[in-house]
Amino acid sequence: MVLQTSLSQTDPAIFELIQKEAQRKELSLELIPSENCVSAATREAVGSILTDKYCEGYPGARYYGGCVNYDEVERLAVERAKTLFSAETANVQPHSGSTANMAVYYSLLKPGDTVLGPRLDHGGHLTHGSPVNFSGKYFRIVAYGLDPQTQRYERDEIIRLAREHKPKMIIAGASAYSRQLDWEAFRIAADEVGAIFMADIAHYAGLIAGGAYQNPFPFADVVTSTTHKTLRGPRGGLILAKKVFASALDKMIFPGIQGGPHMHQVAGKAVAFLEAQSPEFKKYARQVVKNAQLLAEELLKKGFKIVSGGTDSHLLLLDLRGLGVTGAQAEVALDQVGITVNKNTVPDDPQPPKVTSGIRIGTPAITSRGFDSTDIREVANCIEMVVKNFSKSQELEKVRGRVIELCQKRPLFK
Ligand SMILES: Cc1ncc(COP(=O)(O)O)c(C=O)c1O
Repeated sequence: MVLQTSLSQTDPAIFELIQKEAQRKELSLELIPSENCVSAATREAVGSILTDKYCEGYPGARYYGGCVNYDEVERLAVERAKTLFSAETANVQPHSGSTANMAVYYSLLKPGDTVLGPRLDHGGHLTHGSPVNFSGKYFRIVAYGLDPQTQRYERDEIIRLAREHKPKMIIAGASAYSRQLDWEAFRIAADEVGAIFMADIAHYAGLIAGGAYQNPFPFADVVTSTTHKTLRGPRGGLILAKKVFASALDKMIFPGIQGGPHMHQVAGKAVAFLEAQSPEFKKYARQVVKNAQLLAEELLKKGFKIVSGGTDSHLLLLDLRGLGVTGAQAEVALDQVGITVNKNTVPDDPQPPKVTSGIRIGTPAITSRGFDSTDIREVANCIEMVVKNFSKSQELEKVRGRVIELCQKRPLFK
């Protein structure tokens, strides 16, 4: 029966591509800070029969019959998320981080309301107000950026902008900001003008869950996240909120902007939340930060410039200006040796976004495969050799060998 036939028999093309991807992952260093490698248990839940069912609505109040087991799955996910982040309420249905953010804008604001959020080219995300995104199209965005001296978001500037523009909502959170966000500063700014304070912890969620980065609660009103970055869960979104906002947010996720929840993903989230409560995960989160800090230190010693001078988190942003190599060139050369990073704008970047002058590097995925300080020093050596010899194929060849050695020392799939 076709329903029982394995993937390799039904669709050899897709089967083979998955095998190839496993091989690529096994023999390369994943340094994109927003990527990770989920546990076999999480993968099992995501690949389960729970993909079959429609469950529009919420536990105990569905628009379809037969949801009894799904209600329990979702309740577990919600309770675990609340425990993990000390949140009053949780919605685990958002399909992605962007959808979670959209639900916040659409439920708590009116079109045209003013929002104070981080600049995209200073670490923010598209959904924080970019003109090409729904956020920038339907809301009036006032953007804050990094202080030119410290290259950090500074408390006084946030409060000054809040006083001047009186936003209805203030967003803290970023895709490329390595430092501890000053959650209290955003609370103070929000209170001054009666704004809602939304923290987007998509990048930091796993570190927060593991106690390696400060929790935005109790300062924030609403916290959005992805579940697939440092949190090491399946691809998806999450909204945590103070009780007063919960009903509006729930209604906006369904029926406002989504239909049926992806219950296999919700089950995967539940598994990842359980894993993130373990002592091993706490150790993991601390090691992610230690590895990023060591990598930053080593690269600084080699003469690289790092935005804001270092990191308090899982990522760092290399500023390549002055080295005669663009972000795009560095990304391609690193890719050739099996080191995966992404080009990224740096503050006041003279290059366009498709070129950039920086690369963003993160340690969540390599820490998941057990990288320690010795390995990190070798990673720093490899990065230096590639970036400084990006056009010399013989040099790149040598680094490829060293990357393969590192990967074989720390296998991903045993
Ligand atoms: C800070 C931040 N928020 C939201 C998102 C959006 O998440 P998704 O790609 O799941 O829509 C991202 C993704 O990179 C992010 O970095």
